[in-house]
Amino acid sequence: MNSVDLDRAHVWHPFTPTDAWFDPHFKPVMIASARGSVLLDEEGNAYLDGNSSIWTNMHGHNHPVINQAIKDQLDRVAHTSYLGLGHGPGSRLGEKLTALVGPDKYRVFYSDDGATAIEAALKITLQHFDQINQPQRRLFVSLGNGYHGDTVGAMSVGHSSFHTGHFNSLMFPSIEVMQPGCYRCLCNRATPERADARAYRQCEWQCLASLEKVFQERGNEIAALVLEPRVQGAAGMVMHPEGYLAKAAKIAKDAGAMLILDEVMTGFGRTGEMFAADHEGVKADLIALAKGLTGGYLPLGATLIREEIFQSYRGPIERTFYHGHSYCGNQLGCAAALANLELFDTEHTLDKIRDRAAQLKSLSQIFWQHPHVGDIRQDGLILGIELVEDFTTRKPFPFERRIAYHVSERAKRYGLLARGAGNVLILMPPYSTTKEQLDKMVEALYRGLCEELPA
Ligand SMILES: Cc1ncc(COP(=O)(O)O)c(C=O)c1O
Repeated sequence: MNSVDLDRAHVWHPFTPTDAWFDPHFKPVMIASARGSVLLDEEGNAYLDGNSSIWTNMHGHNHPVINQAIKDQLDRVAHTSYLGLGHGPGSRLGEKLTALVGPDKYRVFYSDDGATAIEAALKITLQHFDQINQPQRRLFVSLGNGYHGDTVGAMSVGHSSFHTGHFNSLMFPSIEVMQPGCYRCLCNRATPERADARAYRQCEWQCLASLEKVFQERGNEIAALVLEPRVQGAAGMVMHPEGYLAKAAKIAKDAGAMLILDEVMTGFGRTGEMFAADHEGVKADLIALAKGLTGGYLPLGATLIREEIFQSYRGPIERTFYHGHSYCGNQLGCAAALANLELFDTEHTLDKIRDRAAQLKSLSQIFWQHPHVGDIRQDGLILGIELVEDFTTRKPFPFERRIAYHVSERAKRYGLLARGAGNVLILMPPYSTTKEQLDKMVEALYRGLCEELPA
């Protein structure tokens, strides 16, 4: 059997409608190798990696520096337990990560991926409040349509019923507050224009007022505010108005609650700064990292925690954090992450991202020529294009239309692998993407749109 038949006989894919995968007209792409921003399938077809391999890849595939770091580590040891044991790569990575978010002192707790990094943040927060004699702080507040992963705790603070509808009985209650997404916000009274929704916001900051109200009413029961800073990824690259993050952070701080920032998608340069929170000078109490942490090579999660929180875990044995995973602090993952961070310096990656982001901004304007484009949102190397049935009323396409999926399928024929969310087309190229490759990505996506929805 070839690998497609074997796959169809034995494998189940995440976030993949089953019948679509088995549709005889659908030809699954089986990736065989990759270099830089190009993926090659088993038949030798080349595709540009327009979603950075589900938002993980940073400096490109098969990068010699990361490859070598993993090989060197592999020749020493691949993995050892992190329970009561340590190792050099974990220590050095801890030093580097905490320095990146400093100058305040932080500490790192390793896990396996984004969801587990969030899960650890939630539990560390609750146990911390028990240990500082504020056991009444049990509640989490988080944004409508947020997405933090698929484990039960991460789902509970997610408010993404489309993902979690079947699992409500498992989830703990958390307080949902208004999503600060200007394009679909009923409080934004500005007339739609063909411009960034952030720029034409006209409102009284009702999103912040609703957050403030929750904290006024239940402030001393709230353990933490949990946010994807600046950009809500799975919600469809919903971008928050400038200043929201800093103001929301202050509301949480003033109430004595923690701020947990989920930088799983935005971390490591995506928005043009190392972390999205850097744009507004916000320092969280706990920060969840994963995806790009290893440059897109290996699964590794990290939760950064303020030292004061960690200090509440010192003392008698009951203060132990009884939480972890077999592969916490995996040595290969830590070695890859160290090489990933080194490349930010040696390849001047942030400058590269900003140059490419400026190019993406100008290229993306072509989408305004299409009547079904309602909003174009961009932050660094994240581009979201929201498609609407009707531009004036902003009427969305019905969910079952799977419009972004169909446009992306068409773009595949022009050599682009992209993956949208709902009605939002997404482009999120690796930082290795050349000027010419970015031109091709945008062209392929636009052609896909024009074919799927002839103007
Ligand atoms: C903001 C955010 N947090 C958490 C997660 C979950 O990460 P993982 O898929 O590695 O568990 C994701 C995944 O897309 C994400 O975008």
